[in-house]
Amino acid sequence: MLNKVSPREAQYEIEPVFLERWSPRSFLEKEVPEEVLLSLFEAARWAPSAYNYQPWRFILARTKEDREKFMSFIGEFNQTWCKTVPAFALIVSKTTSETGTIRSHSFDAGAAWGYLSLEAVKKGLATHPMTGIDFAKAREVLNIPEEYAIDALVAIGYRGEKEALPAGLQEREFPSERRPVKASVFEGTFGKNPE
Ligand SMILES: Cc1cc2nc3c(=O)[nH]c(=O)nc-3n(C[C@H](O)[C@H](O)[C@H](O)COP(=O)(O)O)c2cc1C
Repeated sequence: MLNKVSPREAQYEIEPVFLERWSPRSFLEKEVPEEVLLSLFEAARWAPSAYNYQPWRFILARTKEDREKFMSFIGEFNQTWCKTVPAFALIVSKTTSETGTIRSHSFDAGAAWGYLSLEAVKKGLATHPMTGIDFAKAREVLNIPEEYAIDALVAIGYRGEKEALPAGLQEREFPSERRPVKASVFEGTFGKNPE
């Protein structure tokens, strides 16, 4: 199923941006202009959310000092390729409202991340989401209140050359495939794929 040579192909007609987004690990050490960066969060802003709570929050790291702070909780494997990333956004989501638990906080934050990642493609940028981080340390270092869940960290920047990566990562630097549409869609009952 994983095909390293053929480009991504859609089985049904979709906008090309969905196939163009992927998660590279080679990033150029090139700053992203603030206006461009904020466009990504503008796109995220328009994601739907339960009761329009908009539970997502984004903690940015763009300065050398902030990026070093983020490096302190990025996992060992991810540190190997994150060194050149010019901007990070830690996505957190509010888990409670005045009326109780926000059941969909991470679902809503996930939609916001999806919008952000697609706008990034439109702006000539690449993104790479990560959960390979020390969540407890991130909470401590960034002073994140208990009522916010930490969802994921996203690397944002301009894609670099594959050759700039350590050898072991070069062979993984390609847009991955997906299982067929109907393998993920059930008909009428759980587990029954459509014909
Ligand atoms: C929630 C989440 C966590 C991820 N964590 C990591 C990570 O810690 N390190 C990493 O290299 N890639 C990570 N990835 C990237 C996935 O491996 C990647 O999105 C997946 O293989 C599909 O490839 P694509 O994004 O290039 O289409 C993560 C992706 C998601 C959505």
